[in-house]
Amino acid sequence: MKNSLMIGDVLVSPPVLSAPMAGYTNYAYRELLRRLGGVGLIATEMVSARAFAYMGERGDEQPARLWGVADEPRPLAVQIWDNCPETLEELAGTLARDFNVSVIDLNFGCPAPAIAKRSASGSYLLRDPNKVGELVGRVARACAPKPATAKIRLGLTADTINARDVAQAVEGAGGAALTTHGRTARQMYSGRADWDEIAKVKDALARIPLIGNGDITTATEAVERLTNYPVDGVMIGRGALDRPWIFREISQLLRGEEPDPAPTLLEQRDLLLTHYALVVERFGVERAVTLMRKFACHYSKGRPGGRNFRDKVCRVQSEEEFFAVVANEFVVEEPETP
Ligand SMILES: Cc1cc2nc3c(=O)[nH]c(=O)nc-3n(C[C@H](O)[C@H](O)[C@H](O)COP(=O)(O)O)c2cc1C
Repeated sequence: MKNSLMIGDVLVSPPVLSAPMAGYTNYAYRELLRRLGGVGLIATEMVSARAFAYMGERGDEQPARLWGVADEPRPLAVQIWDNCPETLEELAGTLARDFNVSVIDLNFGCPAPAIAKRSASGSYLLRDPNKVGELVGRVARACAPKPATAKIRLGLTADTINARDVAQAVEGAGGAALTTHGRTARQMYSGRADWDEIAKVKDALARIPLIGNGDITTATEAVERLTNYPVDGVMIGRGALDRPWIFREISQLLRGEEPDPAPTLLEQRDLLLTHYALVVERFGVERAVTLMRKFACHYSKGRPGGRNFRDKVCRVQSEEEFFAVVANEFVVEEPETP
């Protein structure tokens, strides 16, 4: 069984990574995952290298998405995006030297119009493997000896799948690992991730690890992907928003142990409240209440009564309302006494 992988000198054990997700994988969520355990490598949300450069020129504070990064436990990956080599290498160098982050990951997968169309970055760059190679090379040199990695999709469209070419460009330029999300940019999040296409990328790589990503929602599925596909690791995003304890379950399965039972309703409530307290620490009460609406909706997926809970929690306006909805919905029905 695959129990670990190396990204440069960074040991990722177990070989199970938490995906970068803008708007979600902030300091509070990362801390929650750490407390639950079982994640080999945690990633930040993507950070705009251009925004970082502008802020530096204006003498502003660091981008909000770097909040917590300097001090939190390692290993930690920070994902960055842009299409300009100088801008990227400046941020990569700062992250490696001043923030001492473990891994700098480059985003070549984001299909959102603001990134791909308007900024010619993210998945837009998949059309040009040479450009991807140039950016990876510049970043790898700027952050050495810290490793630089890349996260890609299969290609732009089903007719132009070129992940193998991009993979070779990444490895050739000094990238230390490659994550492949098994969708094309055009698919956005529709359809299913194609793990057979992910598997084909492995032949294109001579030495660096391949991390497969897309649609893993249970611990058994994660182990099945690791066992049946030629990937060195797996990355999980949305599945862990619904069940953040999935990483602990996977690590237990990989050790040959029976996974702990899923948290009870009351444990899930406590987890939600812990998450809320962490978000408050970071964002203050007002923003925390708004932010928790989306996290709380994820937690209740697949749970009996979940829809009713989501209807209410997505409208809460204050901390009192949030606590009241949580207290009302996470109640254990006592069996009736005869
Ligand atoms: C809300 C959201 C935000 C995301 N933000 C990022 C991001 O900042 N950087 C990135 O590389 N991918 C991002 N992704 C893509 C995920 O990292 C991942 O590749 C994708 O969700 C597929 O994996 P999953 O099925 O396990 O969620 C995002 C996905 C979602 C749903």
